[in-house]
Amino acid sequence: MTEIGIIGSGAIGAGIARLAVAAGIDVKIANSRGPESLNDLIDELGSRATAATAAEAARFGDLVVLAVPLGAYAALPVEALRGRPVLSTGNYYPYRDGRLEMLDSLSVTTAEYEQSLLRESRIVKAFNNIVAHHLAGLAHSTPRTALPVAGDDDEAKRASMEIVQTLGFDAVDAGSLTDSWRFEPESGAYTGIYFAGGHEDYLADPGAPLPADRLRELLAASHRPDVAAREF
Ligand SMILES: NC(=O)c1ccc[n+]([C@@H]2O[C@H](COP(=O)([O-])OP(=O)(O)OC[C@H]3O[C@@H](n4cnc5c(N)ncnc54)[C@H](OP(=O)(O)O)[C@@H]3O)[C@@H](O)[C@H]2O)c1
Repeated sequence: MTEIGIIGSGAIGAGIARLAVAAGIDVKIANSRGPESLNDLIDELGSRATAATAAEAARFGDLVVLAVPLGAYAALPVEALRGRPVLSTGNYYPYRDGRLEMLDSLSVTTAEYEQSLLRESRIVKAFNNIVAHHLAGLAHSTPRTALPVAGDDDEAKRASMEIVQTLGFDAVDAGSLTDSWRFEPESGAYTGIYFAGGHEDYLADPGAPLPADRLRELLAASHRPDVAAREF
């Protein structure tokens, strides 16, 4: 894999972009404010990165990373994303996204909800269960840190697992979009599993490597949270 598009240049989108250029991957990255607003990030990322519109990023490369809040889906370039493998990092936070009955009632997982909004894209869920500031510290860790990847489309899942590996993590097949609740917020395989602990300020936590076998155990033992009771 040599080229990826990224929509969303915030904590996760920029974090993935940094790992991608470090791995020799060319990146087209977009946000909501337009390419000109990305000058500082492009300067930091170097010559492998280009600022783009969301439609340009959606069409670019081997897959598209979607690192935006759920509320942004209505404004996404649906046509440009048609048929594309889309690695979504998104989570459902009612305080930010508003209450969504389909998610509160556990009728669907967040990934299935996203798939219902982008019917003709091929959604894969990954990078949603690790906090942004752990990305750089845990990429290429020893032992390797594992991340779960879930999807319904085999080819899109394979491409997503490949990018997870290339960016410096072990990719663990976590099943289908229906199964992806196992690493949603408040489940047993969410962000806390990568914390080293002992730091009052969570941003000071450097993260701790989590091998693939341990991640598989955590996914198997995960519990489905009561999303309707979520207060954040
Ligand atoms: N932060 C974390 O540690 C973390 C960890 C795991 C998963 N996640 C999840 O990953 C997703 C992204 O999180 P984040 O923390 O990276 O968010 P963030 O820092 O708030 O960044 C969101 C990005 O989405 C862009 N955006 C919004 N609407 C858009 C649109 N219509 N077209 C193109 N770009 C648009 C924003 O553009 P502007 O810059 O122009 O506003 C911004 O760059 C969320 O669902 C979050 O819950 C976050």
